[in-house]
Amino acid sequence: MLIRRRHGWEIPEHLATPEAVFLSRRALIGAAAGLAAGSLLGNRAAIAAVGDTALYPAERNSTYTLDRPVTPERFSADYNNFYEFGTSKSVLPAANALKTKPWILKIDGLVEKPFEIGVDDLIRKVGLEERLYRHRCVEAWSMAVPWTGFPLSKLVSLAKPTSGAKYIRFETFMDKAMAPGQRAFFYPWPYTEGLTLAEAANDLAFIVTGVYGKPLPNQFGAPIRVAVPWKYGFKSAKSLVKVSFTAERPKTFWEGLQASEYGFWANVNPAVSHPRWSQASERVLGSDERVPTLIYNGYGEQVAGLYKGLEGERLFV
Ligand code: MTE
Repeated sequence: MLIRRRHGWEIPEHLATPEAVFLSRRALIGAAAGLAAGSLLGNRAAIAAVGDTALYPAERNSTYTLDRPVTPERFSADYNNFYEFGTSKSVLPAANALKTKPWILKIDGLVEKPFEIGVDDLIRKVGLEERLYRHRCVEAWSMAVPWTGFPLSKLVSLAKPTSGAKYIRFETFMDKAMAPGQRAFFYPWPYTEGLTLAEAANDLAFIVTGVYGKPLPNQFGAPIRVAVPWKYGFKSAKSLVKVSFTAERPKTFWEGLQASEYGFWANVNPAVSHPRWSQASERVLGSDERVPTLIYNGYGEQVAGLYKGLEGERLFV
């Protein structure tokens, strides 16, 4: 986590997401309209939809602060990596095809009892909060966004892993009809990622269901994704359908494609170059400015301890 040190140029938090204010008003109006529709029609879908939007914006957890302004949504919402919908950064139109309702998350593997849960039910069970996080892509661009969600540790508690569980594996949906990128046979679909259970228990590891004070737009990985801010962005798998607990280290999508360039740990480190480019600095989305990259993306105080005794591993690839 970044330290609560305010620089002269740092914008106050209450100005960081003016859209949230607007959205809270919109959510209230939407909720009222939806409730009316729900009671008149006895329509469960309408009521479920109300449940969604009425939860946003969630209260911001003030522990997580930034050393830079929040990236305006117009920049971050049209510069995405979501290979299921193509390799361009403008996946927004293609990602419209993603059907997110209903959406079931499966919890399985080394747990007391595997189960499935609808994302809306899960949200109601665990609650939501907003956190300002930085995101550093391995391609050397970065952004700072207000994610809404809940600590991954809450999902781990619900899952009740057994003593043999050492890792957590995330899996994205698989649907070639909906996601044209999945027709490209040379990628090891579905997209998978993983963390150790110790990493998953770190308070920074976050399950995300919203951004900018509203439910996740499709291109950000709706309706549920991960945010692991001290690691390169590819660790933050999108549109999750399955979370599994395993004894073995899971094989991940990018590792399956090119293990020499994209390893399991993938912690941010400016001193360790990607084989094809430097990681020393990053381009902040929405500006031409390059800023120095920080070890663990600036979250070293919170996470460096996770890697004591693992110095022999390729922690930064
Ligand atoms: N998850 C899935 N399922 N598919 C992807 O292509 N790309 C990853 C990660 N999660 C990706 C994914 C990469 S490389 C990055 S940098 C982030 O998502 C980008 O997140 P954003 O588009 O919301 O900024």
